[in-house]
Amino acid sequence: MILEEKFTLSNGVEISKLGLGTWFINNNDVVQAVKDAIKIGYRHIDTAQAYENESGVGDAIRTCGVKRAEIFVTTKLGAEVKSYKEAVASIDKSIKALGLDYIDMMIIHSPQPWGEFHGDDRYFEENREVWRALEEAYKAGKFRAIGISNFEKADIDNILESCSVKPVVNQILAHISNTPKELIQYSQEKGMLVEAYSPIGHGELLKNEEVATIAKKYNVSVPQLGICYCLQLGLLPIPKTANPDHIKTNAEVDFVISDSDMEFLKNMEQIKDYGKASMFPVYSGK
Ligand SMILES: NC(=O)c1ccc[n+]([C@@H]2O[C@H](COP(=O)([O-])OP(=O)(O)OC[C@H]3O[C@@H](n4cnc5c(N)ncnc54)[C@H](OP(=O)(O)O)[C@@H]3O)[C@@H](O)[C@H]2O)c1
Repeated sequence: MILEEKFTLSNGVEISKLGLGTWFINNNDVVQAVKDAIKIGYRHIDTAQAYENESGVGDAIRTCGVKRAEIFVTTKLGAEVKSYKEAVASIDKSIKALGLDYIDMMIIHSPQPWGEFHGDDRYFEENREVWRALEEAYKAGKFRAIGISNFEKADIDNILESCSVKPVVNQILAHISNTPKELIQYSQEKGMLVEAYSPIGHGELLKNEEVATIAKKYNVSVPQLGICYCLQLGLLPIPKTANPDHIKTNAEVDFVISDSDMEFLKNMEQIKDYGKASMFPVYSGK
C-alpha cells in the first residue's frame, strides 16, 4: 500500500511516497481536504505561501488526531522572495501561518519570480542568499529538510557551488507526456529526490484518449495511471484534489505498468496547452 511506503531523503529524513497537493484549494476547504486525506492514511501534505492556505493546512494538522511527528508538511518560500532579509522574515511568516513548531520541508518555489519564469536572469546571487536563510533555519531546527523547485541544471549548480547544506528535493513538473528526463537524472545524480508536481497534468491528462486507452487496459483511472507512472520512475507524485473519493482512489495504485507502456507514455506527444489554468502559476504574490 503506497500510503505506507517512504523514500529516505539524503539527510536521512523519511517522506511518504505519495503527497496531497493543495494548490487551488482555498484556506477553508483545505482544512477538510487535509483531514480527509489524513483519515484515509496520507501522511504528506504539500502547500506553499503562494497557495494562501497554509493556516488551513496547519489547522488540519493540529486537530486531525494523528501525531504531528507522523505527518510530513512541505511549504514553499514565495518565488518573489529573493533576498536574505526577506527570506528570514518569510520563513517565520510560514511557521506562524501553519501554527506548527517546525516545518518538515521548506523549498524555494522557483529560481525566478513568477513574472520572469524561464527568463534570462537566473537570480543566481539572490538564490544563494535565500538558500543561506534556509540553511540557517534548518540548522536552528525550524525545518527537517530543505529543497528547491523548478530549478534547472544551472540553478542547481549555483546552489551546490556555495551551499553548506545540500537540497534534498527538486520539485518539478513531471507527468505522462511531459517527463524532463535529463533534469530528473541530473537532480537524482546530485542526491535529490525528484517530486513530480501536476502528475495528472493539472487535469489535462483526463482529456487525452491515448492515456485513457492505456488506463482502461489496466482497469484503472487516468489519475491512477498518472500517479503510478511517476512512482515507477522513482518520482514522488503530489496529486491535488479536495474530493474524498479522488483522495482515496488516487492512493490505490497497486499495479505495474509494463516497460513498453512506460516507454509509450514517456514519449507520447507533450501536452502543451493546460487550458485556463496556466502552468506558470501567477500568484497574487502576497
Ligand atoms: N512547485 C510548483 O511550482 C508547483 C506547481 C504546480 C503544482 N504544484 C503542486 O503539485 C500539486 C498537483 O498539481 P496540480 O494541482 O497542478 O494538478 P494535478 O494534481 O496534476 O491535477 C489536479 C486536477 O486533477 C483532478 N483530479 C485529481 N484526482 C482526480 C481523480 N481521481 N479523478 C478525477 N479528477 C481528479 C483535480 O480535480 P478535483 O479537485 O475535482 O479532484 C484537479 O482538477 C499542486 O496542488 C501543488 O501542491 C507545485
